Amino acid sequence: MLKYGVLGSGIGYTLSPKIHSIVFDKLGVNASYDVIDLPTDGLPSEIKRLKDEYDGFNVTKPFKTEIIKHLDEVKCSLGAVNTVRRENGTFVGYNTDVKGFYLSLTHMTGEIKGQSILVLGAGGASEAVISALVTAGADVSVNNRTTVKAVALADKYRIKVWNGEKPTVIINATSLGLDGISNPLPNGVDTSECKYAYDLIYKPSETPFMTFCKKAGAKVSNGLGMLVYQAILADEIFLGQSLDVDGLYEEIMKIIVE
Ligand code: ATR
Repeated sequence: MLKYGVLGSGIGYTLSPKIHSIVFDKLGVNASYDVIDLPTDGLPSEIKRLKDEYDGFNVTKPFKTEIIKHLDEVKCSLGAVNTVRRENGTFVGYNTDVKGFYLSLTHMTGEIKGQSILVLGAGGASEAVISALVTAGADVSVNNRTTVKAVALADKYRIKVWNGEKPTVIINATSLGLDGISNPLPNGVDTSECKYAYDLIYKPSETPFMTFCKKAGAKVSNGLGMLVYQAILADEIFLGQSLDVDGLYEEIMKIIVE
Protein backbone atom coordinates (compact mmCIF):
# COMPACT_ATOMS: atom_id res chain seq x y z
CA MET A 1 0.00 0.00 0.00
CA LEU A 2 1.28 3.46 -0.88
CA LYS A 3 1.38 5.98 1.93
CA TYR A 4 0.82 9.71 1.52
CA GLY A 5 -0.27 12.58 3.74
CA VAL A 6 -0.37 16.31 4.29
CA LEU A 7 2.20 17.89 6.57
CA GLY A 8 1.31 21.10 8.38
CA SER A 9 0.60 22.65 11.75
CA GLY A 10 -2.90 23.23 13.12
CA ILE A 11 -4.49 21.58 10.10
CA GLY A 12 -7.19 19.47 11.74
CA TYR A 13 -9.71 21.16 9.43
CA THR A 14 -8.04 20.05 6.18
CA LEU A 15 -10.11 18.62 3.34
CA SER A 16 -7.05 17.07 1.69
CA PRO A 17 -7.58 13.44 2.89
CA LYS A 18 -11.09 13.51 1.46
CA ILE A 19 -9.96 14.93 -1.89
CA HIS A 20 -7.05 12.50 -2.35
CA SER A 21 -9.19 9.53 -1.28
CA ILE A 22 -11.68 10.36 -4.02
CA VAL A 23 -8.85 10.38 -6.59
CA PHE A 24 -7.29 7.14 -5.30
CA ASP A 25 -10.68 5.38 -5.22
CA LYS A 26 -11.52 6.55 -8.71
CA LEU A 27 -8.18 5.29 -10.06
CA GLY A 28 -8.24 2.06 -8.05
CA VAL A 29 -4.96 2.98 -6.36
CA ASN A 30 -4.28 1.27 -3.02
CA ALA A 31 -3.01 4.25 -1.00
CA SER A 32 -3.64 5.96 2.30
CA TYR A 33 -3.55 9.70 2.95
CA ASP A 34 -2.99 10.97 6.51
CA VAL A 35 -3.01 14.30 8.28
CA ILE A 36 0.52 14.87 9.66
CA ASP A 37 -0.13 17.67 12.14
CA LEU A 38 3.09 18.82 13.85
CA PRO A 39 3.89 21.66 16.24
CA THR A 40 5.30 24.64 14.36
CA ASP A 41 8.84 23.74 15.53
CA GLY A 42 8.33 20.01 14.99
CA LEU A 43 9.79 19.43 11.53
CA PRO A 44 13.50 18.84 12.40
CA SER A 45 12.67 16.05 14.86
CA GLU A 46 10.05 14.37 12.61
CA ILE A 47 11.56 14.58 9.15
CA LYS A 48 13.48 11.31 9.37
CA ARG A 49 10.34 9.39 10.37
CA LEU A 50 8.37 11.00 7.56
CA LYS A 51 11.02 10.03 5.02
CA ASP A 52 11.11 6.49 6.36
CA GLU A 53 7.35 6.05 6.33
CA TYR A 54 5.95 8.00 3.40
CA ASP A 55 6.09 7.63 -0.38
CA GLY A 56 5.23 11.30 -0.61
CA PHE A 57 3.43 14.10 1.15
CA ASN A 58 1.91 17.47 0.59
CA VAL A 59 3.21 20.39 2.59
CA THR A 60 1.21 23.29 3.93
CA LYS A 61 1.55 26.04 6.52
CA PRO A 62 4.02 26.75 8.01
CA PHE A 63 6.47 24.30 6.42
CA LYS A 64 6.46 25.13 2.68
CA THR A 65 9.80 26.92 2.84
CA GLU A 66 11.38 25.10 5.79
CA ILE A 67 10.95 21.71 4.09
CA ILE A 68 13.33 22.68 1.29
CA LYS A 69 16.52 22.22 3.29
CA HIS A 70 15.49 18.61 3.98
CA LEU A 71 15.10 17.71 0.30
CA ASP A 72 17.62 16.34 -2.19
CA GLU A 73 16.23 18.28 -5.13
CA VAL A 74 13.62 20.96 -5.79
CA LYS A 75 11.85 21.18 -9.13
CA CYS A 76 10.14 24.57 -8.94
CA SER A 77 11.28 28.17 -9.21
CA LEU A 78 9.50 29.46 -6.09
CA GLY A 79 11.01 29.19 -2.64
CA ALA A 80 7.99 27.14 -1.56
CA VAL A 81 7.28 23.44 -1.95
CA ASN A 82 3.83 21.91 -1.47
CA THR A 83 4.49 18.40 -2.80
CA VAL A 84 7.30 16.00 -1.90
CA ARG A 85 7.85 12.64 -3.57
CA ARG A 86 10.25 9.83 -2.84
CA GLU A 87 12.18 9.08 -6.05
CA ASN A 88 14.75 6.27 -5.99
CA GLY A 89 15.47 6.85 -2.34
CA THR A 90 15.77 10.63 -2.68
CA PHE A 91 13.16 13.26 -1.83
CA VAL A 92 12.17 15.73 -4.50
CA GLY A 93 10.08 18.88 -3.99
CA TYR A 94 7.52 20.37 -6.35
CA ASN A 95 4.99 23.19 -6.30
CA THR A 96 1.48 22.55 -7.65
CA ASP A 97 -0.06 25.66 -6.04
CA VAL A 98 0.94 27.88 -8.94
CA LYS A 99 -0.76 25.84 -11.66
CA GLY A 100 -3.58 24.87 -9.27
CA PHE A 101 -4.36 28.54 -8.71
CA TYR A 102 -4.16 29.30 -12.44
CA LEU A 103 -6.55 26.46 -13.35
CA SER A 104 -9.01 27.47 -10.64
CA LEU A 105 -8.98 31.18 -11.48
CA THR A 106 -9.37 30.63 -15.22
CA HIS A 107 -12.16 28.12 -14.57
CA MET A 108 -14.10 31.18 -13.35
CA THR A 109 -12.74 33.98 -15.54
CA GLY A 110 -11.64 32.38 -18.80
CA GLU A 111 -8.57 34.00 -20.46
CA ILE A 112 -6.67 36.35 -18.12
CA LYS A 113 -4.02 37.62 -20.51
CA GLY A 114 -4.02 41.42 -20.45
CA GLN A 115 -6.50 41.68 -17.55
CA SER A 116 -5.69 44.25 -14.88
CA ILE A 117 -5.29 42.11 -11.76
CA LEU A 118 -4.74 43.39 -8.21
CA VAL A 119 -3.17 40.92 -5.77
CA LEU A 120 -3.64 41.63 -2.07
CA GLY A 121 -0.85 40.32 0.16
CA ALA A 122 2.86 39.68 -0.28
CA GLY A 123 3.53 36.40 1.54
CA GLY A 124 4.16 32.92 0.19
CA ALA A 125 0.63 32.48 -1.15
CA SER A 126 0.84 35.79 -3.01
CA GLU A 127 4.08 34.77 -4.66
CA ALA A 128 2.47 31.61 -6.08
CA VAL A 129 -0.44 33.70 -7.37
CA ILE A 130 1.79 36.38 -8.90
CA SER A 131 4.00 33.79 -10.54
CA ALA A 132 0.95 32.19 -12.19
CA LEU A 133 -0.53 35.50 -13.31
CA VAL A 134 2.71 36.84 -14.76
CA THR A 135 3.28 33.62 -16.69
CA ALA A 136 -0.25 33.92 -18.08
CA GLY A 137 0.44 37.46 -19.33
CA ALA A 138 -1.85 39.38 -16.97
CA ASP A 139 -1.20 43.02 -16.05
CA VAL A 140 -0.49 42.48 -12.34
CA SER A 141 -0.12 44.86 -9.42
CA VAL A 142 0.41 44.02 -5.76
CA ASN A 143 -0.65 45.71 -2.54
CA ASN A 144 0.36 44.76 0.98
CA ARG A 145 -0.04 46.10 4.52
CA THR A 146 3.75 46.05 4.83
CA THR A 147 4.85 47.97 1.76
CA VAL A 148 8.47 46.78 1.61
CA LYS A 149 7.30 43.22 1.01
CA ALA A 150 5.10 44.34 -1.88
CA VAL A 151 8.05 46.24 -3.36
CA ALA A 152 10.28 43.16 -3.09
CA LEU A 153 7.75 40.96 -4.91
CA ALA A 154 7.10 43.64 -7.52
CA ASP A 155 10.84 43.86 -8.24
CA LYS A 156 11.25 40.10 -8.41
CA TYR A 157 8.37 39.56 -10.86
CA ARG A 158 8.63 42.89 -12.71
CA ILE A 159 5.12 43.96 -11.78
CA LYS A 160 3.75 47.17 -10.24
CA VAL A 161 3.05 48.05 -6.66
CA TRP A 162 -0.64 49.01 -6.84
CA ASN A 163 -0.98 52.70 -7.51
CA GLY A 164 -4.67 53.40 -7.97
CA GLU A 165 -5.29 51.35 -11.14
CA LYS A 166 -8.87 50.03 -11.48
CA PRO A 167 -8.63 46.25 -11.42
CA THR A 168 -10.84 43.93 -13.49
CA VAL A 169 -9.89 41.03 -11.20
CA ILE A 170 -8.93 41.14 -7.49
CA ILE A 171 -7.23 38.25 -5.69
CA ASN A 172 -7.11 38.08 -1.89
CA ALA A 173 -3.93 36.26 -0.93
CA THR A 174 -3.71 37.70 2.58
CA SER A 175 -4.49 35.52 5.55
CA LEU A 176 -7.01 38.16 6.58
CA GLY A 177 -10.63 37.27 6.16
CA LEU A 178 -12.11 35.45 9.07
CA ASP A 179 -13.76 38.12 11.14
CA GLY A 180 -16.37 40.71 10.28
CA ILE A 181 -14.45 43.39 8.44
CA SER A 182 -16.69 45.82 6.59
CA ASN A 183 -14.18 46.73 3.86
CA PRO A 184 -11.36 44.25 3.31
CA LEU A 185 -9.90 46.17 0.33
CA PRO A 186 -7.10 48.74 0.65
CA ASN A 187 -8.27 52.35 0.79
CA GLY A 188 -9.05 53.82 -2.58
CA VAL A 189 -9.63 50.68 -4.68
CA ASP A 190 -12.23 51.51 -7.34
CA THR A 191 -14.26 48.34 -7.93
CA SER A 192 -16.39 49.75 -10.75
CA GLU A 193 -14.60 47.63 -13.35
CA CYS A 194 -14.04 44.58 -11.19
CA LYS A 195 -15.68 41.56 -12.81
CA TYR A 196 -14.12 38.79 -10.74
CA ALA A 197 -12.83 38.43 -7.18
CA TYR A 198 -11.04 35.33 -5.91
CA ASP A 199 -10.18 34.58 -2.27
CA LEU A 200 -7.57 31.91 -1.56
CA ILE A 201 -9.29 31.24 1.77
CA TYR A 202 -11.94 28.52 1.55
CA LYS A 203 -13.25 28.53 5.11
CA PRO A 204 -15.67 30.21 5.63
CA SER A 205 -17.02 29.43 2.16
CA GLU A 206 -17.96 33.10 1.77
CA THR A 207 -15.37 35.45 3.25
CA PRO A 208 -15.88 39.16 4.05
CA PHE A 209 -13.73 39.88 0.96
CA MET A 210 -16.13 37.88 -1.21
CA THR A 211 -19.22 39.48 0.34
CA PHE A 212 -17.79 42.93 -0.25
CA CYS A 213 -16.83 42.27 -3.87
CA LYS A 214 -20.14 40.56 -4.60
CA LYS A 215 -21.98 43.67 -3.40
CA ALA A 216 -19.77 45.69 -5.73
CA GLY A 217 -21.02 43.56 -8.64
CA ALA A 218 -18.18 41.04 -9.07
CA LYS A 219 -18.50 37.31 -9.58
CA VAL A 220 -16.71 35.71 -6.62
CA SER A 221 -14.98 32.46 -5.71
CA ASN A 222 -13.33 31.05 -2.62
CA GLY A 223 -10.11 29.00 -2.73
CA LEU A 224 -11.66 25.54 -2.74
CA GLY A 225 -11.06 25.13 -6.46
CA MET A 226 -7.35 25.88 -6.01
CA LEU A 227 -7.15 23.32 -3.21
CA VAL A 228 -8.74 20.67 -5.42
CA TYR A 229 -6.67 21.42 -8.50
CA GLN A 230 -3.35 21.50 -6.59
CA ALA A 231 -4.29 18.15 -5.04
CA ILE A 232 -5.01 16.49 -8.39
CA LEU A 233 -1.76 17.88 -9.81
CA ALA A 234 0.06 16.51 -6.73
CA ASP A 235 -1.49 13.09 -7.39
CA GLU A 236 -0.10 13.21 -10.92
CA ILE A 237 3.34 13.66 -9.33
CA PHE A 238 2.82 11.04 -6.61
CA LEU A 239 1.59 8.42 -9.07
CA GLY A 240 3.85 9.41 -11.96
CA GLN A 241 1.01 9.53 -14.45
CA SER A 242 -1.15 12.06 -16.31
CA LEU A 243 -4.69 12.31 -14.99
CA ASP A 244 -7.94 13.69 -16.40
CA VAL A 245 -7.49 16.81 -14.28
CA ASP A 246 -10.69 18.62 -15.30
CA GLY A 247 -12.83 15.49 -15.12
CA LEU A 248 -11.57 14.69 -11.63
CA TYR A 249 -12.04 18.32 -10.60
CA GLU A 250 -15.73 18.24 -11.54
CA GLU A 251 -16.28 14.94 -9.75
CA ILE A 252 -14.53 16.05 -6.57
CA MET A 253 -16.34 19.39 -6.46
CA LYS A 254 -19.70 17.60 -6.78
CA ILE A 255 -18.85 15.52 -3.72
CA ILE A 256 -17.23 18.09 -1.43
CA VAL A 257 -19.39 21.17 -2.04
CA GLU A 258 -22.49 20.81 0.10
P1 ATR B 1 0.91 32.94 3.31
O1 ATR B 1 1.86 31.81 3.23
O2 ATR B 1 -0.53 32.54 3.47
O3 ATR B 1 1.09 33.93 2.23
P2 ATR B 1 2.26 34.77 5.05
O4 ATR B 1 3.52 34.60 4.29
O5 ATR B 1 2.29 34.82 6.54
O6 ATR B 1 1.21 33.64 4.73
O7 ATR B 1 1.57 36.10 4.50
C1 ATR B 1 0.38 36.59 5.04
C2 ATR B 1 -0.08 37.81 4.24
O8 ATR B 1 -1.33 38.28 4.79
C3 ATR B 1 0.88 38.97 4.31
O9 ATR B 1 0.82 39.68 3.09
C4 ATR B 1 0.28 39.81 5.44
O10 ATR B 1 0.64 41.16 5.40
P3 ATR B 1 2.02 41.67 6.06
O11 ATR B 1 3.11 41.32 5.09
O12 ATR B 1 1.82 43.14 6.21
O13 ATR B 1 2.15 40.94 7.39
C5 ATR B 1 -1.17 39.65 5.17
N1 ATR B 1 -2.00 39.92 6.34
C6 ATR B 1 -2.14 39.14 7.42
N2 ATR B 1 -2.99 39.71 8.31
C7 ATR B 1 -3.37 40.90 7.77
C8 ATR B 1 -4.23 41.96 8.18
N3 ATR B 1 -4.87 41.92 9.36
N4 ATR B 1 -4.41 43.01 7.35
C9 ATR B 1 -3.77 43.05 6.16
N5 ATR B 1 -2.94 42.08 5.71
C10 ATR B 1 -2.75 41.03 6.49
